[in-house]
Amino acid sequence: MKITVVGAGNVGATCADACARNELANEVILVDIKEGLAEGKALDIWETSPITLYDTRTIGSTNDYTKTAGSDVVVITSGLPRKPGMSRDDLINTNAKIVKSVTENVIAHSPEAIIIVVSNPLDVMCYTAFLTTQKKNKNKVMGMAGILDTARYRSFLAEALNCSPKDIQAVLMGGHGDTMVPLPRYTTVSGIPVTELIEKDKLDAIIERTKKGGGELVNLMGTSAWYAPGTAAAQMVEAIVRDQKRIFPCCAWLEGEYGLNDIYLGVPVKLGKEGIEEIIELDLNEEEKELVNQSADHVKEVMKVLDNMELF
Ligand code: NAI
Ligand code: 2OP
Repeated sequence: MKITVVGAGNVGATCADACARNELANEVILVDIKEGLAEGKALDIWETSPITLYDTRTIGSTNDYTKTAGSDVVVITSGLPRKPGMSRDDLINTNAKIVKSVTENVIAHSPEAIIIVVSNPLDVMCYTAFLTTQKKNKNKVMGMAGILDTARYRSFLAEALNCSPKDIQAVLMGGHGDTMVPLPRYTTVSGIPVTELIEKDKLDAIIERTKKGGGELVNLMGTSAWYAPGTAAAQMVEAIVRDQKRIFPCCAWLEGEYGLNDIYLGVPVKLGKEGIEEIIELDLNEEEKELVNQSADHVKEVMKVLDNMELF
């Protein structure tokens, strides 16, 4: 197995580190456009191998995609992160061009790779990558956001309930932005519906905090988060390379599911060696459907901005 991570910044390096530590492949290639950055971070990660005891090789590359040839999975994290006061959507002009050119390089050397996009605005960057592949295989181009957003939701719940985050399961749908839709009806603590364990006003406050969870960290740090995002992307890589058939909320191309067409949106999927092996359709109630539709409308607005850039 060979994994490439493009973008050796905060999220990319964290993801590469998690992939190496968990021995998800023989080789992890880290690529960045900034001279020496990927080589340096890959070397630093490799130097942890005698300490944490793994033998996955990490190799850095300054924009030389020949080193990525034959990758099974490619994670794209290249692009600007947001600063305080910015929304994820404000990044589209710069990041769309970066994601398009990176995807072109990736598929030129690894035409069969499964691509996991992380760059923001996430849903529309998935669309950008998919268009760059000429919509070759929708199951092989997906985005990471839902695992991160549910992790935030689950961690806040664990704190409020004073219980282990390991026992909290949840589903969250929609776009990766303030319109995301955490679903309390599908949230359980060791099988117990969360609504039986927490008062409604507290749960509502946690849902609101989750929706703005990315912004909370941007305001604290002046840039966006990386530990949870990088680890979440590595969890998707693991499900694919180990063919685990795990069910996660991921950003997937919809063709009629949930009554939505031609849009990337967060939905529960089964991840395995073929990429997205199934999109799971929950029996949403009217209120939930309305929230998902509102989120889809917002993503469509940002898709229009991409269309108007005339990159394709
Ligand atoms: P960062 O600034 O630390 O790293 C980005 C890296 O991309 C930089 O090292 C830069 O040199 C590199 N880069 C820029 N253009 C490139 C190109 N053409 N080819 C190769 N590398 C290139 O940013 P960070 O924090 O790692 O975030 C990366 C992206 O991920 C941002 O767009 C951010 O908004 C997004 N993000 C998405 C999340 C999600 O849940 N989907 C969560 C966290 C961040
Ligand atoms: C996050 O949610 C900014 O998308 C990034 O942390």
